[in-house]
Amino acid sequence: MGMSIFNENKIQVFEEIDSTNDLCYELTKSDYIEEGTIIRAINQIKGKGQKGNKWESENDKNLTFSILLKPNQIQPANQFILNQAISLSMIDFIKSITKSDKIKIKWPNDIYFGEKKIAGILIETQIMGNQIENAIIGIGLNVNQLDFKNHLPNPISLKQITQIDYNLDNLLIDFLPFIELHIDQLYEKDFKNIETIYMKNLLYFNYSKLYKVNNKIINAKIVGISKFGKLILQINSDIKIECDFKEVEFIH
Ligand code: BTN
Repeated sequence: MGMSIFNENKIQVFEEIDSTNDLCYELTKSDYIEEGTIIRAINQIKGKGQKGNKWESENDKNLTFSILLKPNQIQPANQFILNQAISLSMIDFIKSITKSDKIKIKWPNDIYFGEKKIAGILIETQIMGNQIENAIIGIGLNVNQLDFKNHLPNPISLKQITQIDYNLDNLLIDFLPFIELHIDQLYEKDFKNIETIYMKNLLYFNYSKLYKVNNKIINAKIVGISKFGKLILQINSDIKIECDFKEVEFIH
């Protein structure tokens, strides 16, 4: 077991920034920033989500932060294992707080409570040759926010689940051991274990429901995830398809 990647001294808190992922990226270009550096915004005003979406967060109500990792031993082709490890650290952390078994991963790496989204993850990597040089792990966790804008489909916060108001600084510090554990597993190349536990925590795994794939509504079942992180859907007894994040939509 190596030295701890994280400690409180590596957390930098900013009053207001556009996007913690973007600031973290800028820092990797200008300074030497250590692995385990965390950039947190109290008020993130131009938060980025996946697929070019926005991530909205009320001032001083939620955790919006980015973690710098240097997973040099992970090949770019295996990147998805990083998403899986981070998703599992979020699952364990949020379960430890809510004590709920309704916390699941919605592929690829949204965290859900039942049918509602409680956290999102946006990982941006910088590749050099055949190595991941830097990985910026952006995490948005809904904590104390009670009112969400109407256009957001299905948000929920920790406080809406537990009725507790959380101290954001303490919550971030409490999260660190969970991520450390999963990063250690990742760096020790314990991929099988990560993949198995990811599948156990996957929302709608082995469950028939509707998906929209390339503009067609189909009934299908998630039966696996490919090495490259694609969703494997079983359409009928002979046909399986692999879908990219952009090709598939879950229909509720
Ligand atoms: C998603 O669900 O679409 C991913 C959301 C990721 C949001 C976080 S908040 C901190 C970090 N900085 C950003 O600009 N985005 C991520």
